[in-house]
Amino acid sequence: MRLKNLLGIRDLSNEDILQILDTAVLMKPIMETKNKRTNYLLGKILVTLFYEPSTRTRVSFELAAKYLGATTTNISTSSSSVVKGETLIDTARTLRAMGVDIVVMRHPMTAAHRLLGEHLDAVVINAGDGINEHPTQALLDMFTIREKKGAIKGLKVVIAGDILHSRVARSNIWGLTRLGAKVVLAGPSTLIPRGIEKMGVEVFNDIRKAAADADVVMGLRIQKERQKGGLFPSLREYSMLFGIDRDVLEVAKEDVLIMHPGPTNRGVEMPSEIIDSDNSAIEEQVTNGVAVRMAILYMLTREGVS
Ligand code: CP
Repeated sequence: MRLKNLLGIRDLSNEDILQILDTAVLMKPIMETKNKRTNYLLGKILVTLFYEPSTRTRVSFELAAKYLGATTTNISTSSSSVVKGETLIDTARTLRAMGVDIVVMRHPMTAAHRLLGEHLDAVVINAGDGINEHPTQALLDMFTIREKKGAIKGLKVVIAGDILHSRVARSNIWGLTRLGAKVVLAGPSTLIPRGIEKMGVEVFNDIRKAAADADVVMGLRIQKERQKGGLFPSLREYSMLFGIDRDVLEVAKEDVLIMHPGPTNRGVEMPSEIIDSDNSAIEEQVTNGVAVRMAILYMLTREGVS
């Protein structure tokens, strides 16, 4: 890979994206072996540094690193010196002093990762920065779509819900449009950023119109923690007007793939019967997240291959 760090899909070329997806195809069978262990990252130290909650991203990076033979440790900021007032720069210097090789960070501030990288010799991976990007989520989404549909070019992918606060939506728009998908956004106008059409997407406020002939429908979590209030009347009304229900899927292609980055608000973005349906790839997205993160770790630390 040309890049030292993975900060956003925006920085990646088509070739970078395809190389990561192809490498993940080779990594996935390792997860199914008895020992789940290789030596590609032997001797490397990976730290997960999360200033916001996470289950999937943090655990899958930790497992991916372990499957590749790395040593891992987790800093949960709520029980670290961050609560004593340590700055991000001082945390970076502390990790540098301990010889850390890879830092996977989630931070509420856009571009916090660039600041971290300036004070570390380690590889820096963005596990989500504010509402800006979540590149590894988009890569695992693209991997899942390609695995299920055979290709991404020419597909109609609908991303529905809280686009305004969604770093997942932004990273997916960068990646999917670059790989030739037609990306359609659907949601209340208060949750769609103004001018987002400039990113090459079409916007609908009626999800039933947006979903016509869709190959993929991706729901996004309503981020209660980022809502300042007043963006839509109530969760019940959101679910009635914008939820991905049977009526929405009726107008999509019969083999439409249902996706969601998780965690889901069951009954808000979509009902349980759709989350758990045969068309749903939501659990496979989680599995694929480990393979894709193995590929990313391998590619960013390739000089250490044994
Ligand atoms: N999709 C996602 O980022 O999930 P977590 O917040 O659990 O990591």
